[in-house]
Amino acid sequence: MSSGNHKHEKSRLHSRNKNREKYDIGALIISNPKLKDHIIHNRSKEKSIDFSNPLSVKILNQALLNHYYGIKNWEFPDENLCPPIPGRADYIHHIADLLGENNLGTIPTGDKIICLDIGIGASCIYPIIGVTEYDWRFIGSDIDPKAIASAQNIIDSNSAIKNKIECRLQKKSKDVLHSIISKKDKIDLIICNPPFH
Ligand SMILES: C[S@@+](CC[C@H](N)C(=O)[O-])C[C@H]1O[C@@H](n2cnc3c(N)ncnc32)[C@H](O)[C@@H]1O
Repeated sequence: MSSGNHKHEKSRLHSRNKNREKYDIGALIISNPKLKDHIIHNRSKEKSIDFSNPLSVKILNQALLNHYYGIKNWEFPDENLCPPIPGRADYIHHIADLLGENNLGTIPTGDKIICLDIGIGASCIYPIIGVTEYDWRFIGSDIDPKAIASAQNIIDSNSAIKNKIECRLQKKSKDVLHSIISKKDKIDLIICNPPFH
C-alpha cells in the first residue's frame, strides 16, 4: 500500500474493481481524516495500516467506501466484523458478469434489476456496492434485528443509496426465502455470504 502510486495493479482483483490500483493514502486521508492516526510504515517502508488492528481496518474501509463509492456514513457496531471492500466488490462484479452472460453480453444496469441479499448484515456491504456500481435495487434480509437496524441507518444516512435498498427481517432463523419474498416480488438475482444454509 503506497501513497500516490497507481502503476502497480492488484491483478487478482476483477478488472472493473476500483481497488485494483494501489491505495492513494493521501486521498484516503482526505476522505477519512481519522485514517491519518492509523498510518504505519510496513517492511517495504511503504505507508500502510496495521491489518491486525480491527479499528484501523474499519477506518481504512470507511475511507475506501467514501472515496470510491460516495458513502459518507458507514457506521455499524464494533461487534460486527468489518467486511473488506475490495473482496466484496469483486463478488458484485462477478455476479454482474453472470447477469451479462444472460443478457446478450451486456451487463444490465438500473433499478429494474432487483437483487436479494440474504444476510445483508450490519454493514449493508453488498447492496452498497451493487447500487453504487450498477444502480440495481436490493432487498436485504437478516435474522438479526440489530443488523437490520444498522443497515437501515446506513441506507438512510447516505444519499447515494437511499430508497434503493429495502431491509426485511427474517423471523425464523431456519427459513431463507419463506416470508421474505412474496409472489409480487420479481427477483433477478439472489446472493448470500454464509455461514448458514
Ligand atoms: C457472514 S454474515 C454476512 C454479512 C454481509 N452480507 C457480508 O458479506 O459481510 C451472515 C449474515 O447472515 C445473517 N443470517 C443468518 N441466517 C440467516 C437467514 N436464515 N436469513 C437471513 N439472514 C441470515 C446473519 O445474521 C448475518 O448478519
